[in-house]
Parts: sequence; C-alpha cells; structure tokens
Amino acid sequence: MSDLTPRSFERSVTTMTEHVLPGHANALGTVFGGSIMSWIDVCGAICAQRHAQKLVVTAFVDDLVFEGPVRVGEVVKLQARVNATFRTSMELEVIVEGENPISGKVWPCVRAMLTFVAIDETTRKPVPVPPLLLDTDDLRRRQKLGEERRAHRLERAHRLEHPKSQ
Ligand SMILES: CC(C)(COP(=O)(O)OP(=O)(O)OC[C@H]1O[C@@H](n2cnc3c(N)ncnc32)[C@H](O)[C@@H]1OP(=O)(O)O)[C@@H](O)C(=O)NCCC(=O)NCCS
Repeated sequence: MSDLTPRSFERSVTTMTEHVLPGHANALGTVFGGSIMSWIDVCGAICAQRHAQKLVVTAFVDDLVFEGPVRVGEVVKLQARVNATFRTSMELEVIVEGENPISGKVWPCVRAMLTFVAIDETTRKPVPVPPLLLDTDDLRRRQKLGEERRAHRLERAHRLEHPKSQ
C-alpha cells in the first residue's frame, strides 16, 4: 500500500547545473532549445519521483518561452518544485536561469510547467500520488492556480486528440 500522507514540497525540490559545451550549442554558439528542454524534463522527473516515490512519465509540457540565450562556456541552472498534486498526476514548475560563472551574472532563461503521472512499476498503470502539504497561503494559491491550469490543459489535450470534434 502506498503512503498517501501529505508531503511538503521542500523534500522534493531538485536543482541541476549544466555547463554549456560546444556539443550543446547551435551555429550561433548558444545552447540548443532541445538541450534545455531535455534538462527541464530530467530535472522535473527527478523532482516528481522524489515527491511520489514512484516511477513517473511526462504527460504534458506547457508552452515554453525562451527569454534569454546562454552561451558556450556559461552555465544553465535548473530548479524544479511540485506546484500542485491531483489524483495520479502532478504539476511541476521548472525555473531555468543562465549564469556567467566568471562575472556571477544570472538571468532568466525559461520557466516551464510540466505534468507528470505516477506509474506502477509492474502494471504500468497510473497510481495515486501523495497530496502536497498545503500549510501556507502561498502553497494553497499555487495548488489552486495549478488546478485552473490543469482544466485548460486537459481541454487542450482533448482538442489536440480530437481535432474534428470542434
Ligand atoms: C500519461 C498517461 C500515463 C495517461 O494514461 P491514461 O490511460 O490516459 O490514464 P488516465 O486517463 O487514468 O489519466 C491519468 C492521469 O493523467 C492525466 N493526464 C492524462 N493525459 C494528460 C494530458 N495530456 N495532460 C495532463 N494530464 C493528463 C489525467 O488527468 C490523470 O490525472 P489525475 O489522475 O491526476 O486526474 C499515458 O497517456 C501515457 O503513458 N502517455 C505516454 C507518456 C510518455 O511516454 N511520456 C514520455 C516519456 S516519459
């Protein structure tokens, strides 16, 4: 039986640091969007697994806006946290920043929202996740906003799956 006792978001916060190497970059010498997307998915998945203590799969990635480039030799910093939990799914927020390790300058790169679903290792079916412990106004606000975004997401996913039904 899974432990579905509410869990604090702090216990699953996940950070990652990547050094941008030539293999990550395009012809302009800035990091490929695809490299950043892959790091976002990995950082989010680790955070979701830490919260759920289950395997997870990525179900949905919200729109991504790349705010600032990161060049070869600079650093990409990622931090993921669980924003909201539902029955078997969770909304994760991943904040990505660029950093120049010489000057110490830090700038916004991307803010991503992803939905992960917890999966039973044997049956490969979705399984319930523990709720977040909502003991502050900020945490309750994040959960509520996550629920609103989830409704839009599911509507959007339905429209993508059934384009002719509109
Ligand atoms: C995500 C997946 C497990 C959902 O399976 P399913 O049979 O549709 O299961 P359900 O309908 O019971 O939905 C399970 C949960 O996923 C959520 N979900 C399903 N599709 C979703 C989508 N497109 N966006 C957001 N949430 C979604 C449901 O809302 C539900 O959440 P809840 O239990 O918290 O209410 C399944 O579609 C899948 O395996 N997709 C492929 C995932 C993958 O390969 N990712 C890339 C590699 S990790």
